[in-house]
Amino acid sequence: MVQATPKALWALAALLFTWSSLAASIKSRGSGGLFLDLADLGVDVTKRQTNNLAGYLGAFFLGADPYVYFYLSNGNDALSFRALNRGQPVIRPTKGTTGVRDPTIVPGGGSESGRKWYIIGTDLHIGRTTWDAAQRTGSRGIFVWESTDLINWTNERLVTVEDATAGMVWAPEAIWDPAKGQYLVHWASKFYPTSDPRHTGNPTNIRMRYAYTSDFKTFSAPQTLIDKNPTNIIDLNYLPLSPTSFLRFMKDETRKTVFVEVSNNGLFGTWTRPGGDGAIIQTGVEGPASYLDNVDPRKVHLLLDFYGSDGYRPFESTNPGTNSGWVGSNRNNFPKNLRHGSVLPINGTVYEALRQRWGV
Ligand SMILES: *[C@@H]1O[C@H](CO)[C@@H](O)[C@H](O)[C@H]1NC(C)=O
Ligand SMILES: *[C@@H]1O[C@H](CO)[C@@H](O)[C@H](O)[C@H]1NC(C)=O
Repeated sequence: MVQATPKALWALAALLFTWSSLAASIKSRGSGGLFLDLADLGVDVTKRQTNNLAGYLGAFFLGADPYVYFYLSNGNDALSFRALNRGQPVIRPTKGTTGVRDPTIVPGGGSESGRKWYIIGTDLHIGRTTWDAAQRTGSRGIFVWESTDLINWTNERLVTVEDATAGMVWAPEAIWDPAKGQYLVHWASKFYPTSDPRHTGNPTNIRMRYAYTSDFKTFSAPQTLIDKNPTNIIDLNYLPLSPTSFLRFMKDETRKTVFVEVSNNGLFGTWTRPGGDGAIIQTGVEGPASYLDNVDPRKVHLLLDFYGSDGYRPFESTNPGTNSGWVGSNRNNFPKNLRHGSVLPINGTVYEALRQRWGV
C-alpha cells in the first residue's frame, strides 16, 4: 500500500478544487437557456434517490378502445413495459360519451403528496361521433378518478370546465403549482361566438386554457394559458424539475409538430422556446408525455404519439431543455400502439402492490 505524504494530499486537494470550479463554470452556461441540463434546472437528485424509485406505471388509451389501460415497467427499466390486467382496461368510464382518451396520472401535491393520485382524461368516444362534431359540440367536461393507493380508482366524475361557447375540452392534464398551493389544470379548447349557439360557423384558433382546483371537484373560472393565435396548440405536458424550473411540451396542431419551452422562474414565469419559433423536437406526432429516469438523474424520457402509425415511441435526452438533441430510444421492449397517456415513477412498495393486484 502506498502511504500518502502530506505533499501528495495537498496536490490532490488543489486538483479537486480546480476540477470543481471548472465544473461550476461549465454549468453556469445554462443560464443562457441553450445549454440547460438538469443540474442547472435544480433537479434535486438526492431527494429523488430517497424516494427509492423502483419502476414506472404507465396509463394509456388504445386507438379504437377509449379506456384506461395500465402498463408496468419490467424492473426499473424506463423503456420496457408489460400490460397489466392481461391487457384489459383498468378503468371504463360510465358517464359522458363512455369513452376516455389521453388519460394522465396526476400525483398529489402539498398535503396530498404521496397519499393521493388523480387520473383525468378527455371525454370522447370517437367511434360514436365524428371529428367535426367532436370539435364543434364535443364534451366540455373532463373525466376524473381518484385513488389513495394507485390501485383502487374511485369517485368517477365528469366536471364541466367551460361554458357553452367552447367547442370541446381536450387532453386535460394537471400539475401541482407549489407557488399557488393548488393544482393547475389545463386543456385545449376553441370557441364560437355567442351569436352562433349551434357552432356551425368558424371558431377561434385552439388555445390552452386553465383553472385551479384543490379537489378536482370545484374549479376556478377558466382563463387562457397559452394562445399562439393563429396557430392551434393542444396536448400540453409539464415536467417540473424544481419548485421554480419547468419544461412544457406541446403540440402545434397547425403544423403537427411537438416542441418544448423552458421557464426557470415558475409556471407563470418567462417561457422561452430554445432554438426559436420554428424549433421542434419531432414532426407528425402528438401527446407528448415526459418523465424523469429513475436511475440516470440527467436523463428525461419523452413519449411521442405517432398517431398516423404505431402510437407512442420513446425518445430521450440528457439536455431536455432544448428542442435539438432528442434521440429515439431503444424500442425493443416498448409496446406498440399505446396512445396518448402518461408515465409515473413509483417505488418498490407500489410496484409490488400493482404487480400483485393485476397479476403479472
Ligand atoms: C412508496 O410510496 C407509497 C406511496 O407514496 C408510500 O406510501 C410508501 O411509504 C413508499 N414506500 C417506501 C418504501 O418508500
Ligand atoms: C376503494 O376505495 C373506496 C373509497 O376510498 C373504499 O370505500 C373501498 O373500500 C376501497 N376498496 C378496496 C378494495 O380497497
